[in-house]
Amino acid sequence: MKAIIPAAGLGTRFLPATKCSPKELLPVLDKPVMQYVVEEALEPEGVNGAVIVNSHEKPQIEAYFEEDLAFEEMLRERGKGELADKVHEAGALPVSFVYQDDPKGLGHAVLCAQSEMDGDPFFVLLGDYFVPGRQMCVRMAEISRAHNNASVIAVAPVPADQVSRYGIIAGEQIGSYGDTQVGPEEEGAVWRVTGLVEKPAPEEAPSHLFIVGRYLLSPRIMELLATQGPGAGGEIQLTDAMERLLEEEEMYAIVVDPAEGCDTGTPAAWAATNARMALANPAFTDAFREELGDASL
Ligand code: G1P
Repeated sequence: MKAIIPAAGLGTRFLPATKCSPKELLPVLDKPVMQYVVEEALEPEGVNGAVIVNSHEKPQIEAYFEEDLAFEEMLRERGKGELADKVHEAGALPVSFVYQDDPKGLGHAVLCAQSEMDGDPFFVLLGDYFVPGRQMCVRMAEISRAHNNASVIAVAPVPADQVSRYGIIAGEQIGSYGDTQVGPEEEGAVWRVTGLVEKPAPEEAPSHLFIVGRYLLSPRIMELLATQGPGAGGEIQLTDAMERLLEEEEMYAIVVDPAEGCDTGTPAAWAATNARMALANPAFTDAFREELGDASL
């Protein structure tokens, strides 16, 4: 089973930084954002590869995940074995690439990876957000197994005035993840999804739960994407194909706390993510506080 990570976007929100280096390679501490997303994708048992949907404009992403034994050797000769190990880790990740040179939307990006899926269910992870060590995809896989391998998405509450930025679900709570019973919009609530709308006007939103960018999807979605016409913003929307999937198959959602993830979608969010990760990682915390000096967080 594979995970698809769309990464063909232009990164306009990070210009000029992304003029000649892809936003996926912006570092969070000492690793690029994309490496965190790949590592998260590989957390569930049974996921044996990540397929990055890239554009030919960004060959640096591919270069980053390539093995470079000569470079590692040079580092080791200079007594930098620990750094060589880190470089090796990135090159050893099971990552492959497909290309979307004509960005026609998220649904189209996912369809570009169809040939790599072997007709199996697959994850999709949107790369502007990563959830380090929290096993979000593992929870989704468990819910899927409990419901006959149905599709499962992660959702979270969003204020009413922001629904038009996201995909919003309709449905009903059917239970809770784990032993504690929680309310419908609380973390751990499990919903059966009955409808999906991409970027609805506030008065048309069927709930306040938005799709956060983690999907476990039935292979049937690829066939539906192949005939999916443009939707919101003139783009081929994954959400629209999922709405059609509901006519044939069940779908579930788990409510997550968006604060458990790290947003890197805008310069401010990326800067805050670096600070949070530095404060959470003992290898960086003291040095980070010292560098920060009197500036308070
Ligand atoms: C995409 C999806 C949307 C989802 C969002 C999460 O939208 O189409 O359903 O809620 O990601 O970030 P985009 O951000 O590409 O407009």
